[in-house]
Amino acid sequence: MAAGLNSRDTQAFYITTPIFYVNDVPHIGHAYTEVASDVLARWHRQRGEDTWLLTGTDEHGQKILRTAVANDTSPQAWADNLVESAWKPLLKTIDIHNDDFIRTTDERHEKAVTIFLQKLYDDGHIYSGEYEGYYCVGCEEYKQPDDLMDGTGDFVGQLVCKIHGRPIEILKEKNYFFRMSAFEQKLLDLYESQPDFVQPSSVRNEITQFVKQGLADLSISRSSFDWGIKVPWDESHVVYVWFDALLNYVTAIGYGVDDAQFQRRWPAVHIVGKDIARFHAVIWPAMLMAAGLEVPRAVFGHGWLLVGGEKMSKSKLTGIAPSEITDTFGVDAFRYYFLSAITFGQDGSFSWEDLSARYQAELANGFGNLASRVIAMVTRYFDGALPDVEPDEAILAIAKRVTAAADASIDRFAINEALGSIWELVDALNLYITENEPWALAKEPATRARLEVVLATAVRGLGTLAVLLSPVLTRATEKLWQAVGGVGALDAQPIDRAWEWTGGPAVTPLDGTLFPRIETTEEAPVA
Ligand code: MSP
Repeated sequence: MAAGLNSRDTQAFYITTPIFYVNDVPHIGHAYTEVASDVLARWHRQRGEDTWLLTGTDEHGQKILRTAVANDTSPQAWADNLVESAWKPLLKTIDIHNDDFIRTTDERHEKAVTIFLQKLYDDGHIYSGEYEGYYCVGCEEYKQPDDLMDGTGDFVGQLVCKIHGRPIEILKEKNYFFRMSAFEQKLLDLYESQPDFVQPSSVRNEITQFVKQGLADLSISRSSFDWGIKVPWDESHVVYVWFDALLNYVTAIGYGVDDAQFQRRWPAVHIVGKDIARFHAVIWPAMLMAAGLEVPRAVFGHGWLLVGGEKMSKSKLTGIAPSEITDTFGVDAFRYYFLSAITFGQDGSFSWEDLSARYQAELANGFGNLASRVIAMVTRYFDGALPDVEPDEAILAIAKRVTAAADASIDRFAINEALGSIWELVDALNLYITENEPWALAKEPATRARLEVVLATAVRGLGTLAVLLSPVLTRATEKLWQAVGGVGALDAQPIDRAWEWTGGPAVTPLDGTLFPRIETTEEAPVA
């Protein structure tokens, strides 16, 4: 094991979220992607890996342009406002520890996109042609007839996009094309030789089938509007918004301008919603191959948050703002709930009732109560001085096992399984306290020695839990770490050795309860 740990110490871990469209404010679907990526980043950082979490905003294209025009403003002013008033504040609302935030209107991005595009052009991967076909501005995507259906309601008699249910555009314009078809076999070889390149397997299968049906070349410029990055050799065109957006993952780490940083970080792990996995697992690696760059380490397509059985979205008016949840339940509950209740990689239904029930059972009663009881007993029976005795082997063995299991789950992106393993220790400690009845042991001097062992074991278990849960429950674990007498910064404790924590000398009372009782019935809206 030691060799493995050492080799990890210097390993780079670069993880990205999608960059978000700034046509509207964030909802809990966006926040879900952010939290999952942040938890993975925090876990790897706490293993001592050279970790970098990138997030940001996608600001070009027709969708943003039209939103700005409809609101009587310029796209740049619109984006500036949304980024500062909504997207950056989201990161604070849900405790995201990102290392960088890229906007596609940043000069560094625009400059590096130009360098990348010119290289592909010079190397013969781009040619000029005419695009004639369908386009959905909602998806910012060229569409095939199969992607469309007949409109209903206001849109009767028109063709609409199956995803948005809104009319599509019929384009006929001079465009530049990327010879993506040349990479069809190379992509299939990639999926074959690196089965974990696209995850989970449901998404991998869908992508493989899609590419097997044949890849067409991709139109990568638009000439009928000008909100975008200018094509360097023909300024009457702007770069297609997805081609521009995907490049954020390399422009943010110095592509074309800072080789040392680029070499240090690339390749990345991309966390995306399954709806945009195709862009990341087909177009993006083809672009990288054309430029002679390494493909990403992995593309993980997570599922959708469903409300009332449908993908939650603002355009369908089912959007829920993250603060609606954090204001009532707190940031920790937000982070914990979505990652523990939903299998990462599958869809999951959101309901206020489920959130409330899990908050009460798992966080308040399961974890919070355990912490309060144990710390109160050490304070009462030992005046806060933690007995210096060996812990019970059985609990220590569980702590060791769940640490290893959770660590391995994180490597498989199985965040919910990692939490399930950690919760085995929560449950084991609760059972341990119930069975050993420290309050009874405290009554007799003859059982004092046993009381010392039981409470020392429990405090040690709580310290292990504080370390293991710190990537998810960022706030409660900080309080717990103070209470159990943790020395040093909590996020500096090696997470893959969390079970080794031996306990601080002094336990201090908890600052309130970790998860206070919540009166939800009147306050929480019912979905
Ligand atoms: N701008 C593009 C991404 C470019 S990445 C180079 C985009 N933006 S988005 O704002 O529309 O969506 C960003 C992410 O939020 C996507 O991964 C999408 O799947 C995710 N989600 C949007 N609604 C969601 C749910 N209802 N549930 C889970 N994730 C959701 O696409």
